[in-house]
Amino acid sequence: MKIAILGAGRVGTTLGRRFADAGHDVTYAVRDPAAAKYAGLEPKATPAVACADAAIVVLTTPWAAAEAALASAGDLAGKVLIDATNPIGPGMVLTHGTTDSGAEQVARWATGARVVKAFNSIGMEVMANPVFANGRSVLWLCGDDAAAVDAVASLGASIGFEPVRLGPLARARFQEPAALVWITATGTMGREFSWGVLRR
Ligand SMILES: NC(=O)c1ccc[n+]([C@@H]2O[C@H](COP(=O)([O-])OP(=O)(O)OC[C@H]3O[C@@H](n4cnc5c(N)ncnc54)[C@H](OP(=O)(O)O)[C@@H]3O)[C@@H](O)[C@H]2O)c1
Repeated sequence: MKIAILGAGRVGTTLGRRFADAGHDVTYAVRDPAAAKYAGLEPKATPAVACADAAIVVLTTPWAAAEAALASAGDLAGKVLIDATNPIGPGMVLTHGTTDSGAEQVARWATGARVVKAFNSIGMEVMANPVFANGRSVLWLCGDDAAAVDAVASLGASIGFEPVRLGPLARARFQEPAALVWITATGTMGREFSWGVLRR
């Protein structure tokens, strides 16, 4: 699977490493491939080049940079676009509340892309290793394109997650606030914990 990581920061490089280790063909889409801070990161290309032949694009920029990053990536119509961002503004406030979501805004910006919200509501330490002594971390997912959601569920499972589908993309209105629950809980739990499911 050809994957472009749009935003090679903490989340982007963590997921990129995990996807590459699982056998996927990962390219980092960076604004300035010649920048010294990306010297050790390979393979890399400009967003337009890296995203052009990717089947899956993973958006891992700060929320404030998301619109510009998507614009620089070229036409994403038909591609699976994983939105791992959180629309968090100053003061830890969600800029999109429960009548809209960052993921729906991403879908409006990236016309025709098959947007799936995923990897937003757990920390990068969990992305690095979602397997715990008492089970696998849940990967909450939602999206309007069933095949795209299935592809992201398989991708998540390939790096150790237990995918749990929440339904259409509008469910990101609840999946995004879950990130704030995780972040808030780090105050008492540290960062090495995740969402799990108890079943009867
Ligand atoms: N940190 C976590 O544990 C965590 C967990 C879940 C979700 N998230 C979400 O994931 C997103 C990224 O978080 P992070 O902690 O990884 O941030 P980060 O370490 O600050 O990395 C952000 C990256 O985005 C890049 N970027 C900014 N504008 C860009 C553009 N126009 N085109 C391409 N790349 C661009 C930056 O690259 P340059 O500035 O070098 O160009 C930087 O490498 C955020 O939305 C955050 O809410 C974070």
